Amino acid sequence: MYNAFFGFTENPFNMSPDPSFLFRSPQHEEALANLIYGVQSRKGFIVLTGEVGTGKTTMLECLRDFLYSQQIAFASLFNSRLNVEQFFELLAYDLDLRCNRLSKTEVLLSLNNLLLERAAAGRTTVLIVDEAHNLEWDVLEEIRLLGNLENRRGKLLQIFLAGQQELDRKLEAPEYRQLKQRVALRCTLRSFDPAEAAAYVDSRMARAGLKNQTIISPELMDEIQFRSQGIPRLINAICDNLLLTAFAMETRTATLAMLDEVTADMRLEYLGHRAFHAEGAYPEHGLRPSQIPFRAD
Ligand SMILES: Nc1ncnc2c1ncn2[C@@H]1O[C@H](COP(=O)(O)OP(=O)(O)OP(=O)(O)O)[C@@H](O)[C@H]1O
Ligand SMILES: [Mg+2]
Repeated sequence: MYNAFFGFTENPFNMSPDPSFLFRSPQHEEALANLIYGVQSRKGFIVLTGEVGTGKTTMLECLRDFLYSQQIAFASLFNSRLNVEQFFELLAYDLDLRCNRLSKTEVLLSLNNLLLERAAAGRTTVLIVDEAHNLEWDVLEEIRLLGNLENRRGKLLQIFLAGQQELDRKLEAPEYRQLKQRVALRCTLRSFDPAEAAAYVDSRMARAGLKNQTIISPELMDEIQFRSQGIPRLINAICDNLLLTAFAMETRTATLAMLDEVTADMRLEYLGHRAFHAEGAYPEHGLRPSQIPFRAD
């Protein structure tokens, strides 16, 4: 809607986990390197956890791109509210197993054959499970057993489990001890600090066609990082609404007043105003923070 007004060729703050917009923060870079290392080293289980909206699915999308580019067969399950039967059915469907997909025994036999064939040809096979914190115990147990399939050179199936921090807690529970022991690598995504958040926003805008953006000032960016707690999804939502508001007001500069309006509309909860904005911060103005423009222009 506002793209042409600001000079974007596409929406910079789309909510989809699009790898073409990937901002390679050090932690995202490290997570991706771990995922790719996991595939190449045939380690078995790799677990990726993080707060809601920190980029887990985006990382998995990048991993999928890598797997496509390397012609590595994979199954990827994005709906983890499955029972055991549905899990095997989807697995068979994704890996195109020629068997009765409703029979767990047949799926397992067929999967075993496929994995051995591929391993004999020096090729690996991958299972990706997103939202793994939602998996029921019995499905996780089946996944653990799949992780046991191996030949002399290593695991036959590389398994990636991604999920919210609840997954970390689940793995600590006694009934998941066996699974926890098999996890070869664990990586965690956290929210962005102020410098990362600013670089993230700039990078998305640049990717969408606007280099060296001046719509959001560094000061306002700090406030966005604070109110979003550095969570990429929230940063996207705030910036999208902010640009929309600026566009509606026919200005190419976002202000704190606009941000106040946007975060109020989003019912965003954050710890009040920071000390910087607290009483007495602008005594000479006698203004509320939202009345103070961040930019002179
Ligand atoms: N490193 C990044 N580069 C570019 N965009 C990112 C990055 N990290 C997160 N995002 C963006 O943030 C939003 C949320 O990301 P994503 O859906 O991957 O998070 P998630 O951790 O899977 O969330 P959830 O816990 O709800 O499943 C998406 O719009 C995505 O594009
Ligand atoms: Mg996700």
